[in-house]
Amino acid sequence: MEPKIAVIGLGYVGLPLAVALSRSYSVVGFDISEHRVRELKEGHDRTHEIESDVLKKSSLQVSTDPNILMDCGVFIVTVPTPVDANNQPDLEPLSSASTILGGFIHKGSIVVFESTVYPGVTEDFCGPILEKVSGLKAGHDFFLGYSPERINPGDKVHTVDKITKVVAAQTPEVAQKLAQIYGKMNNNNIFIAKTIKAAEAAKVIENTQRDINIAFMNEIAMIFAKMNISIHDVLDAASTKWNFLKFSPGLVGGHCIGVDPYYLATASKSLGHNPQIILAGREINESMANELADLITQRVGKPLRLLVLGLTFKENVPDLRNTKVVDLIEALKKRGHVVDVHDSCADPEEAKRFFNYHLVPALTIKETYDGVIGAVMHDAYCQFSNADFQRFLKPKGWIFDLKAVWRKQPPAGFNYWTL
Ligand SMILES: NC(=O)c1ccc[n+]([C@@H]2O[C@H](COP(=O)([O-])OP(=O)(O)OC[C@H]3O[C@@H](n4cnc5c(N)ncnc54)[C@H](O)[C@@H]3O)[C@@H](O)[C@H]2O)c1
Repeated sequence: MEPKIAVIGLGYVGLPLAVALSRSYSVVGFDISEHRVRELKEGHDRTHEIESDVLKKSSLQVSTDPNILMDCGVFIVTVPTPVDANNQPDLEPLSSASTILGGFIHKGSIVVFESTVYPGVTEDFCGPILEKVSGLKAGHDFFLGYSPERINPGDKVHTVDKITKVVAAQTPEVAQKLAQIYGKMNNNNIFIAKTIKAAEAAKVIENTQRDINIAFMNEIAMIFAKMNISIHDVLDAASTKWNFLKFSPGLVGGHCIGVDPYYLATASKSLGHNPQIILAGREINESMANELADLITQRVGKPLRLLVLGLTFKENVPDLRNTKVVDLIEALKKRGHVVDVHDSCADPEEAKRFFNYHLVPALTIKETYDGVIGAVMHDAYCQFSNADFQRFLKPKGWIFDLKAVWRKQPPAGFNYWTL
């Protein structure tokens, strides 16, 4: 008989996974957030990952009551793995989820972690909690697994059913079982990693590599800005070489790329190795908000009334967690500018609650701003015409195109700047 599956943590990762698995299995979802479970029951996913009609039609059952986990055979944990104020891994959500699960696992259960961690967290941190609460032995009575999640919020191409899923487990038999379960969701596009630690490490380096690559772009963007060379002109030329890796400079926020390298760095330091490139990459990317505020201020020479377009951590998602646009706004204010912000994807109430920002409700205030900063290029902004800019920007006002989306055809009648 097929096992009943539980997904623990129904956020950006857990919900799409639970919905996809529920097409082939009996699946329940557990989340500690009353608010989240209520909206899902009403058929609304505020992360925009799952359409309302898909959610309403899904057989997925969701609850904040842990008793929903009763009778499940496979438990998949997708709770957050943030860092604390000192950029140290905060394993509290994993600890509390493991404690809850300890009360429901039984002989033969499989507990799979999907949260991004450093190598060892599944077997050396979560496993012992599960053992202690359940009184069962990992690898003997119940089995641990790890399967990193690679989805990219807002990306409608690389969805959970279309990307290779890495799985690993304490025994080859359990790894095969996981391959079979996940394989139903993505046409058996599965890679079985040798060990749980290898799978944990693979995920954390995927994101760390991206952070470092972007940091290199940010570093050279700053060098070339001092030389009055546009990095985009440089990248256009350099990327004609077959083995050049093209990334874009910019702010690195969110809860993955800007966070996961700290997990690896902490684990590395605890073993006595100072991870120089990883931490240098973080430092460069963390400095970008100030660097950009300086470049903008130097270019205009005086405080301006500015409108920032985009507050979320990346384009076309409503997610405001750890967005570095806030750092940019605050850095601009420190330099004397008056700054408003508009976001076509963010929830205005969240913007108020998280940052005490009142989002500009609509871009209809005529010729208000001396400059506009394209910070996060939601589709709505990419399509701006001259007339759109004229609605809110003064004639000869500044367009600071941080993502270089208007670079090929800068809007006429304004001052245009990009890196
Ligand atoms: N969002 C992404 O793009 C992405 C991609 C790949 C991997 N990841 C990783 O996946 C994990 C989850 O990320 P996310 O973006 O889905 O987070 P999220 O914050 O969107 O969702 C996590 C959910 O878990 C719930 N939760 C917290 N503690 C819980 C507990 N003890 N028991 C049950 N539910 C609990 C929260 O209420 C929330 O609804 C993280 O480790 C993240 O690094 C995220």
